[in-house]
Amino acid sequence: MDPRINVVEKRLEKIGKVIAVAGGKGGIGKSTIASLLALVLADSNRKVGLLDLDFTGASTHTILGIDEFHFPDEDEGIIPPKYHGISYITIANFTQDHAAPMRGLDITNAILEILAITRWDELDYLIIDMPPGINDTTLDIIRLIKNIEFCIVTTPSKITTGVVKKSVDLLQELNIPILGILENMTFPTVSHAKQIFKDKYIGMIPFDESYEHAIGNKDKLLKTAIAKTLRNFTIICDKMC
Ligand SMILES: Nc1ncnc2c1ncn2[C@@H]1O[C@H](COP(=O)(O)OP(=O)(O)OP(=O)(O)O)[C@@H](O)[C@H]1O
Ligand SMILES: [Mg+2]
Repeated sequence: MDPRINVVEKRLEKIGKVIAVAGGKGGIGKSTIASLLALVLADSNRKVGLLDLDFTGASTHTILGIDEFHFPDEDEGIIPPKYHGISYITIANFTQDHAAPMRGLDITNAILEILAITRWDELDYLIIDMPPGINDTTLDIIRLIKNIEFCIVTTPSKITTGVVKKSVDLLQELNIPILGILENMTFPTVSHAKQIFKDKYIGMIPFDESYEHAIGNKDKLLKTAIAKTLRNFTIICDKMC
């Protein structure tokens, strides 16, 4: 067995809840929700970490307005730098925000290494921004992080809900806890998600025109309808802790 697996368990032992923000499809708002959920949690005095594991195109730094990509400081492991009260690690720290095409074992190795060397210390929440789909990263974090829970993002579209349903079914078959399903970019006339996901459905986040103008600016982000809706979700997170 790879000795790093035991180290990962040790590194994560002081974290209350690990939430992977995922969904079967691309472009549905996973990074938006992961970043703003972390911001909202930090803003309400929770100790929060954010780990961007999207090897296909990390973007949480753009959302949060972070533009420095140096290798994090080291002291018996790497110390996540803090931005807006969030302890933050992104694969962009290691790629200098360049594309990092990787496959199979290389991805597994990179995830294992990041989890084994990062010193998160005490956190109430660690939010993980996932790449689209069920893929190597999903299978690896399910294997490596014992208490992982999933927050699944969908949109109102039949196309999205159809694909996301398959991810949800798979996670349920594997007995992986699902915190809930959030329907993002809703608009008044369409919603299939409520009927499809039933008791797992926990709420809708409206399409918010102000979001594009808020990207990169913490104070503006916290004023968006997305952040305001996610504040209710933090209550759900706390209740389930
Ligand atoms: N509630 C919302 N209101 C307005 N725009 C939104 C909302 N949620 C997401 N967006 C926009 O939708 C696009 C996709 O969002 P985001 O990058 O968060 O999705 P993603 O699922 O992480 O994508 P990927 O699969 O590529 O990682 C972005 O342009 C973002 O600005
Ligand atoms: Mg994303």
